Amino acid sequence: MKSTISFLGGIIFALVVLVLAGYFAVKAGFVPAGADTKPTAVERWVANTALRAALERDTKGLANPVQPSDENLITGVHLYAENCVICHGASDAKPSNPAQGFYIAAPQLAEDGVEDDPEAESFWKVKHGIRFTAMPSFAPTLEDDQIWKIAMFLKRMDKLPPSVDAEWKQVPSVAGTPSSK
Ligand code: HEC
Repeated sequence: MKSTISFLGGIIFALVVLVLAGYFAVKAGFVPAGADTKPTAVERWVANTALRAALERDTKGLANPVQPSDENLITGVHLYAENCVICHGASDAKPSNPAQGFYIAAPQLAEDGVEDDPEAESFWKVKHGIRFTAMPSFAPTLEDDQIWKIAMFLKRMDKLPPSVDAEWKQVPSVAGTPSSK
């Protein structure tokens, strides 16, 4: 009994020390506050694990209710042009100046696209945004129907019907200063 109590006491003591060490690490400025260094392993683990769990929970059985058509895809292209190019680039996949300064890079989707992801996953990311990154939530500004049209376009970006592709190629480049790195 006595040894169980001292064992539990040891664990509680260790936990208190850990919490205090974490608190003083934050207060003493050891946790990066700028966006010009890479995220720490702890930050990466929390962000990735939480995102995977949320996607698993929220996208089960979720399917795009909007019918694929050239018209709906073109609406998706226009919504992307208005809301996304500054971070994810146009069809030339050349990053803008802001896109070169994120500590979690924004993929240039024309080159590094999400055609392999389920549409429901892209829908979720656009609607809710991605915590700990620059990816914003579009819930306050876009209707679900509009987000589904964007997700439909992202899914087919590498095999668009010719009339939609022509519209996509017309979205002006946002290419910034060529990166020196
Ligand atoms: C202010 C910058 C910014 C804007 C605007 C933005 N995004 Fe993002 N987005 C990001 C960043 C940064 C990431 C990377 C997040 C990560 O890796 O977890 C991201 C991630 C994504 C992803 C996941 C990519 C992958 O490889 O898994 C998708 C899909 C996406 N954004 C779509 C969009 C769409 C569609 C829009 C417009 C409606 C948009 N984003 C607007 C910054 C932005």
